[in-house]
Amino acid sequence: MCGIVGYTGSQSAIAPLIEGLRRLEYRGYDSAGIALGTPGKLFVQKRAGKLSNLESELIQTLPSATSGIGHTRWATHGGPTDRNAHPHLDNEGKLAVIHNGIIENYTELRAMLEARGHKFESETDTESVAHLLSDLRKTSHGDLAAAMREAVKSLRGSFTLVAIHADQPEVVVGVRRNSPLVVGLGVGENFMASDVAAFIDYTKRAVELGQNEVVTLTPTSVEITDLDGNAITPREYSITWDSSAAQKGGFSHFMLKEIFEQPKAVADTLIGRLSGSGDIVLDELTLSDNEIRELKKIVVLACGTAYHAGMIAKYAIEKWAKIPVEVELASEFRYRDPLIDSSTLVIAISQSGETMDTLMALRHAKANGARVLAVCNTNSSTIPREADAVLYTHAGPEIAVASTKAFLTQVIAVYLIGLHLARIRGVMDRSEVKAIFDELGELPAKIEQILETVEPLRALTRNYTNSTSVLFLGRNVGFPVALEGALKLKELAYMHAEGFAGGELKHGPIALIESGTPVIAILPAGHEHGLDEKMLSNIQEVKARGAHVIVIAQEGDEVPGAEHVIRIPKSLPLLQPILATVPLQVFAYEMAVARGNDVDQPRNLAKSVTVE
Ligand code: G6P
Repeated sequence: MCGIVGYTGSQSAIAPLIEGLRRLEYRGYDSAGIALGTPGKLFVQKRAGKLSNLESELIQTLPSATSGIGHTRWATHGGPTDRNAHPHLDNEGKLAVIHNGIIENYTELRAMLEARGHKFESETDTESVAHLLSDLRKTSHGDLAAAMREAVKSLRGSFTLVAIHADQPEVVVGVRRNSPLVVGLGVGENFMASDVAAFIDYTKRAVELGQNEVVTLTPTSVEITDLDGNAITPREYSITWDSSAAQKGGFSHFMLKEIFEQPKAVADTLIGRLSGSGDIVLDELTLSDNEIRELKKIVVLACGTAYHAGMIAKYAIEKWAKIPVEVELASEFRYRDPLIDSSTLVIAISQSGETMDTLMALRHAKANGARVLAVCNTNSSTIPREADAVLYTHAGPEIAVASTKAFLTQVIAVYLIGLHLARIRGVMDRSEVKAIFDELGELPAKIEQILETVEPLRALTRNYTNSTSVLFLGRNVGFPVALEGALKLKELAYMHAEGFAGGELKHGPIALIESGTPVIAILPAGHEHGLDEKMLSNIQEVKARGAHVIVIAQEGDEVPGAEHVIRIPKSLPLLQPILATVPLQVFAYEMAVARGNDVDQPRNLAKSVTVE
């Protein structure tokens, strides 16, 4: 995590740096800092807390500088203090470095550098790089890029590093290993950042950097080399979204805006996916029909909200394509001996495409011979680059830390995969696939309908602001929805919240029910296996123990005994998560607002977690 931005050009660096950091604050917001390059001297300012703390410090006179670097931090090594904030400096105060990731061998480096006489100011792993670079720059005759190449050879871990030196302030040098860094190409100015959002207002031309590539920017040049100094031709691409997508557009929070963007996000993810002949179009899959027929199992790997999308994948793909599906937390996967081989398709789901746990699991899967398909929302990020194939969701940039529209589009993507596999394996015929696809096509309008009638739910939510605990119940495909509802509430409202499978209630969780405990139950759509009736019994069981029950139920279904019923449109049972999740997002959003929490940047979290 952590957001990184670098600028060199002809205008004042302060605007691109601060505006860039604002766009990257979703990556971490424990502290922020900048270093501006002026000849012979760096101007460095850093503050604990959000970017706004730093900005209020910067109101004082700033030097006029046309280059600089900036950082917004999610603390790993060393608490979120002024001292531990980035940039970190060498002892002469002339070299500044910012970092995203973890330097695993920093203790050894620090001991070695202290033995050489370097004095450390912070508890961070990053500071050792500043001192190391300082020494290597001297032995490299003042060549910062050469020093960076040498430094990286002795670093272990995952990192993006960006550095600047006062003797050549127009030169900004960066490198990446397992953490993101992209270059933005301007006219008479150049940028680098963790995410294109940082410079989208200035340019739509971007260059991706590969692993262990070092980039050197001046206002008029971009040079990329490998660690041996061999030149690498820049791989340029165009950014397809514009800056309005990264602004709130009249909504009070990004999260609310993103909740309201869901009809479009779902529709965009479905566009072009059904051929005239009634087949699902998934050319990105890159598996031949024969390979698909020979698949023995699917393993879905993901973290957080994306993991819940993975759980829904299991229900849909097993039912439609009749292939066994395992779903595993990416952070657990490689620490056992998973049984995978070339007949396994691994689906790695990640909004950001940068989650380190998912990336490491993907690599483990590939090393064991599995084919990996990424489901991702961020173009050219690391996970799709390393996967064998990628299916992009089209949610557009998601800025709020709590995922909403990306989740719905991930679920749509796994439905498409399930239908495609079902068709190729001959489990479903064209008309069956088309019938489900047509139902998928109706979801955007149904989400719209939920959003148009959301005000009573917002008012209802405020009745529960002082509750200490909220429980969520679901069954079948409603179970992951319950987990997602609970996760959203934890993330945003900082309340104890748990999701349970309705049938498990009697095996323990029912002991949590006290008089007045809010319980949100998702009533299964349809009558398959009598699950709707079983959930109605669960509702009675918690009511009998004093719970206040709010039921998410589709139109027309009887819900005897519930205090409140939130209606969602009818859908196929397997598609219900797309609709049932929306009121739970609104519930968590409203609760966070009512409790005075920071909705878009909840405490202790970051959107893109690039450490294990
Ligand atoms: C973090 C975020 C979650 C997200 C998870 C996975 O924990 O706070 O909202 O679901 O990472 O992120 P990914 O980008 O891989 O989907």
